[in-house]
Amino acid sequence: MAAHKIKENLYFVGAIDWNRRLFDSLIPLPDGTSYNAYLVKGNDKTALIDTVDPSKGHELLANLNQVGVSKLDYVIANHAEQDHSGLVGKIASLDPRTKVVTNAKCKEFLREHLLIPDDKFITIADGETLPLGGKTLQFVFAPWVHWPETMFTYVVEDNALFTCDFLGSHLAPHNMFAENCEGFHDAAKRYYAEIMMPFRTSVRKHLERIKGMDVRILGPSHGPIYTNPASITGAYSDWASDAVKNEVVLPYVSMHGSTQKMVDHLTNRLVERGIVVKPFDLVVTDLGKLAAALVDAATIVIGASAVLVGPHPQAIYATYLANALRPKARFASVIGSYGWGAKIVETIQAMIPNLKVELVPPVVVKGYPKEQDLEALEKLADGILEKHKSIGIAG
Ligand code: FEO
Repeated sequence: MAAHKIKENLYFVGAIDWNRRLFDSLIPLPDGTSYNAYLVKGNDKTALIDTVDPSKGHELLANLNQVGVSKLDYVIANHAEQDHSGLVGKIASLDPRTKVVTNAKCKEFLREHLLIPDDKFITIADGETLPLGGKTLQFVFAPWVHWPETMFTYVVEDNALFTCDFLGSHLAPHNMFAENCEGFHDAAKRYYAEIMMPFRTSVRKHLERIKGMDVRILGPSHGPIYTNPASITGAYSDWASDAVKNEVVLPYVSMHGSTQKMVDHLTNRLVERGIVVKPFDLVVTDLGKLAAALVDAATIVIGASAVLVGPHPQAIYATYLANALRPKARFASVIGSYGWGAKIVETIQAMIPNLKVELVPPVVVKGYPKEQDLEALEKLADGILEKHKSIGIAG
C-alpha cells in the first residue's frame, strides 16, 4: 500500500502483506497482515515510528520517498521483535545522523538481535518527550504486551497513540481505518487471544493508562487504525476481564470414531442445557479460531483418543497451547477413549498448571462408548451446568 495521510504531517508508511499465511512459524494468518510504520514530520526533525518486516523493506522506502523524506532524524523502536524492528538498523545506517530512539531494555534487545552499534542509540525514559518542532513525541512504557521492552509513542499535538502490537490485528486491511474495515473486530479478538491473552494483568493496566490519556487516533502496528479508540479499548476491557460466558470449548481428536461419538453426545447434552458449545476437531482446526474461542469460555473439555499410553499428540498440542495462552476459564474436564490402556486424564491434568480451573469429573472409556458411558457423559453435562450456575452464568 502507498503512504497514507492520517493528519497533517502524520502518515502511515508501512506495508500490507496480503499473502502471508503463517506468523512465527506457528500462527495461521487467514487474512494476511500489515506492518504499520508511521512518519511524523516536525518543523525541525522527522521521526519514523517502527519499521516493517524486512521482506517489505522496499515498500517502506518507496513510501518514505512518496512523502518526500530523504533524511530521518529519528527511528523510534517501540518493540524489538523483527516484524517491526528488523529494518531499524538498516534504515538508521542510511544516514550517519539518524538515531535510534528507544528504552534501555529495547536497546539491549536490538543490540543483541540486530547488532546495532551503541552510538546509534538515544535512550529515553518512561514519559520522556522528544520535540520535533510543532510535533512532540512522548514515550509511554508498556511492558509485557507482549514483550518486556514494549512501549507506545504518543504524538501530543495530534492526540495520536501508536501502540505497536497492543490492540492490533493480523488483518491485511482494505481500508486503513477500522471503522471502514469489515471484519476488524473478529481479527482483533483472534489476535488478542493468540498474542495478548497470556498477559491479561498487563493488558488491564495499560488499558487504564490509555483511558487516562486523550487519545483520538490509535495506531497499532498490525491491522487497521482506530479513529474511535473506544471501539477497541472497550472490547479489550471485556476480553481481559475475569467475566466468563456460558460456553464450553471442546478441542478433540478421534482416531476410530469412539471419541467423536462421545464429543457428539456431550455436545448435544450441553446444548439441551442451554450451554453454547464450540467443538474443534484438531485434525482440521484453525488454531486461531480455537484461541479466539478460549477468550470467553467458562469451561474447557479436552477430547482425546489414546496413542500408546497417553493422549493423542494432537490433544497434547492443544492442551499445551491452552495452558500457554492462560485463558480465564474456570472449569475443565477430559473425555476420551482408549484401546488397551492409557493415562489420558493424568497426563492432561499435569499439563495445565497455568489454568486456574476446577476439574469436573472426566469420562474416559475403553473402546466404543456403551450405554453407561453415555449416561456418564450426561452426568458430566449436568456437572458443567451446575458449575456454570454456581458462578451465575447459567439459569
Ligand atoms: Fe508484531 Fe511482537 O511483533
